[in-house]
Amino acid sequence: MGRLDGRVALVTGAGRGIGRAIALRLAADGAAVAASDINAETARDTAAHIEASGGRAWASQADVTDRASVQAMIDGAAAALGTLDILVNNAGIFFNAAFDAMTDEEWHRMINTNLTSVFLVSQIAIRAWLAASRGGTIINLASISGQIAFTHSAHYCAAKAGVHALTQCIALEYGERGIRANSIAPGIIETQILPDPAGAQAWANRLPIKRLGKPEDVADVAAFLASDDSRYMTGALVFVDGGWMLE
Ligand SMILES: NC(=O)c1ccc[n+]([C@@H]2O[C@H](COP(=O)([O-])OP(=O)(O)OC[C@H]3O[C@@H](n4cnc5c(N)ncnc54)[C@H](O)[C@@H]3O)[C@@H](O)[C@H]2O)c1
Repeated sequence: MGRLDGRVALVTGAGRGIGRAIALRLAADGAAVAASDINAETARDTAAHIEASGGRAWASQADVTDRASVQAMIDGAAAALGTLDILVNNAGIFFNAAFDAMTDEEWHRMINTNLTSVFLVSQIAIRAWLAASRGGTIINLASISGQIAFTHSAHYCAAKAGVHALTQCIALEYGERGIRANSIAPGIIETQILPDPAGAQAWANRLPIKRLGKPEDVADVAAFLASDDSRYMTGALVFVDGGWMLE
């Protein structure tokens, strides 16, 4: 018996990195998983991996910045897998930009992909839950960058601070309707989002836990937040950062 047996989860950005690890971990715990990504091929690969391990999965190509695409993703997941219980807003991007040189296009691309996406996907999922008089659980990928400042990252820091603010407002507004929302704030996790992997390694020595994070370190926490083991948690921000925030 897995702790997510009978549950259906949707993971955005599930084609690689943290999203893929979360999709595989939720499936290992028994959930049927809708693996969604803007990259259709990687989404299919994650779903195929789950099915090859004996799980249930459905792959979806969707752009989380586009309302019509998000609506089709959520409708498709519910049609393919029967319902939706768990939403993981993981899709995101990162690139450096000095504040004084940042273009409007760069600002909007970052905010749209990392923050407006969470508004769109969460709103459409919540509307479906309210219409069906049922609850659900939302897990949002925030970041330590939403809590502390980094140079050349004003657009990313603002977006990630906004992600946790959204989490808290959803938790407050819909708790009594059986909807929980929590954020995860990873530190530096070894994925392809990192612009300078060699430079990132240098940070590891400064951490109490002397290594960078792995996608699975985040996925294990996401699985806990997705399950009833976290039933009394809502509006929380869980740091998965090797102790980064201690300094
Ligand atoms: N890796 C880290 O150090 C770190 C730290 C803190 C927070 N995070 C957050 O964790 C999440 C996952 O990051 P990751 O490191 O796995 O990144 P990644 O680049 O490896 O994976 C991101 C995935 O999101 C998808 N994606 C991007 N834009 C999309 C869009 N418009 N629609 C749908 N899918 C889209 C990509 O195709 C990719 O598969 C992000 O929200 C990121 O900000 C990562």
